[in-house]
Amino acid sequence: DADEHLKPRPPVVTIMGHVDHGKTSLLDALRGTDVVKGEAGGITQHMGAYQVTLKSGDKISFLDTPGHEAFTEMRARGAQATDIVVLVVAADDGIKPQTIEAINHVKAAGVPMIVAINKMDKNGADANRVRTELLQHDIQVEEMGGDVQDVEVSALKKTGLDELTEKILLQAEIMELKANPDRMAEGIVVEAKLDKGRGPLATVLVKRGTLRAGDIFVVGVEWGKVRALVNDKGQTIKEAGPSMPVEVLGLSGVPQSGDILSVVENEARAREVADYRQQ
Ligand code: GTP
Ligand code: MG
Ligand code: NA
Repeated sequence: DADEHLKPRPPVVTIMGHVDHGKTSLLDALRGTDVVKGEAGGITQHMGAYQVTLKSGDKISFLDTPGHEAFTEMRARGAQATDIVVLVVAADDGIKPQTIEAINHVKAAGVPMIVAINKMDKNGADANRVRTELLQHDIQVEEMGGDVQDVEVSALKKTGLDELTEKILLQAEIMELKANPDRMAEGIVVEAKLDKGRGPLATVLVKRGTLRAGDIFVVGVEWGKVRALVNDKGQTIKEAGPSMPVEVLGLSGVPQSGDILSVVENEARAREVADYRQQ
């Protein structure tokens, strides 16, 4: 896209960290929801996608990843699909195996990271111990003379949240994130499933362009026509612009996570591309 078509877009932020360090709780605190309560065994097993509108009107899109060791691939994908990673470390537990794994995904993806030291309300919370442990993994936070931003938070007591969103927006500003909203949409499948009542569903993060009801698209070996777009609050919406996560209905089948969705001119073209890919 030529520069004159590019407009500022919200940052996409992936939340990563060891199991139970409070990633989903932190998102719940930011969104005013209670997703954790609905999770089986309190364990996140899929990638959640949300958009938060701050009091200032600024928007931030979030991808929540599981911390359980079984979900390495989802964490890798989360690091690749994002602008910024927020690494959540519980202040009473410190650096653990999936914290280290997350750091490695972040380094491989080459994305900037902000460290959220969570559970500061707990007895035994020790933020400086976390900062020192991070040094052993080549992560130097500002207080240690480095350039990685960190922030002390409590998802439970809802403290440090404004500071966290400020740091995210500051990092985003430096990155000058832009996309052209006025072109045929392209996005990445964050997750997909077959819903008994509604058929194949895909949660898509729009990268560029604007996705609208009625648009015809190809996604992996599947194609479709957008029957409905549903936002993270379960509301049906008319369109989704850059950085917006949205649930797409109207697919021919269930695509793969990580597949690229591209809007095309017409149904004939969509079938042609999907058929070709299926061979
Ligand atoms: P996975 O997605 O399964 O890896 O876990 P998670 O990182 O999303 O953690 P989750 O939000 O499920 O929280 C795990 C537990 O820690 C829950 O019992 C939360 O209530 C608790 N918790 C999260 N944040 C805080 C906090 O700031 N303070 C305290 N005291 N407890 C917290
Ligand atoms: Mg979780
Ligand atoms: Na959990």
